[in-house]
Amino acid sequence: ASTLGAAAAQSGRYFGTAIAAGRLGDSNYTTIANREFNMVTPENEMKPDATEPNRGQFNFSSGDRVYNWAVQNGKRVRGHTLAWYAQQPGWMQQLSGSSLRQAMIDHINGVMAHYKGKIYAWDVVNEAFADGNSGGRRDSNLQRTGNDWIEVAFRTARNADPAAKLCYNDYNIENWTWAKTQGVYNMVKDFKQRGVPIDCVGFQSHFNSGSPYNSNFRTTLQNFAALGVDVQITELDIQGASPTTYAAVTNDCLAVPRCNGITTWGVRDQDSWRSGDTPLLFSGNNKKPAYDAVLNAL
Ligand code: XIL
Repeated sequence: ASTLGAAAAQSGRYFGTAIAAGRLGDSNYTTIANREFNMVTPENEMKPDATEPNRGQFNFSSGDRVYNWAVQNGKRVRGHTLAWYAQQPGWMQQLSGSSLRQAMIDHINGVMAHYKGKIYAWDVVNEAFADGNSGGRRDSNLQRTGNDWIEVAFRTARNADPAAKLCYNDYNIENWTWAKTQGVYNMVKDFKQRGVPIDCVGFQSHFNSGSPYNSNFRTTLQNFAALGVDVQITELDIQGASPTTYAAVTNDCLAVPRCNGITTWGVRDQDSWRSGDTPLLFSGNNKKPAYDAVLNAL
């Protein structure tokens, strides 16, 4: 196969990218994105601040721009994200306790109703665990509503759109030896044991010098999959874009039957949220060495 999406499809997987609505007018960008990828994650357009700018008033204009571009070009969409400590609208940041809990539930219901039946997988909860050695939850206004906020989010989401896979998504959970990885693993294990609906775990995979790729990532993917969830690489970027590391990540996913696909967090280096790291597979109109490494590995 001669594109990432077609190559991934040979093993029943997808290869995706984050898409920014503001770049859809750039034909160099859309040409690469349309040719190479068959899954789309809106980079910012389905986040709470974008979709519910005022309480109870939903705005899907940017989310729909990305969604429609994807579907009109034959791609599926990962929804990102419903409950997160960051990129909350101002009104939500002010809330706490039972009113915030209700606002979270209403937000999940409102957004998922709009996209009902149209989303491959939703990142229902994003980044709820703390960095460092605690293995525990991250402090946030959502966490302070009670430790059960995550399972409430997932139960709400299952009822709102039974057709979507429901994912927990986080970063720094790729290294099996890290406490944060173990914390998320234990939560997923507990959810599966108690019947809390969860279908997948998203490993953001933002690799850099502070959180480098480690070959035990494959062990992590295997161990999570063994709990009975799909695993997905959801926001891949690698500082410096080492071809060897990109190939290793690709091979880790291919080694795990329940690894459904890989998404890079942007198309070209210039589109990256960490553009100074030149972490992606394209530069300008050109394929980088990491692109060939990934394509050959798929
Ligand atoms: C980032 C976007 O790429 C930026 O454009 C935005 O300014 C901040 O958010 N983890 C996530 C993503 O789950 O939503 C983040 O995206 C990157 C880290």
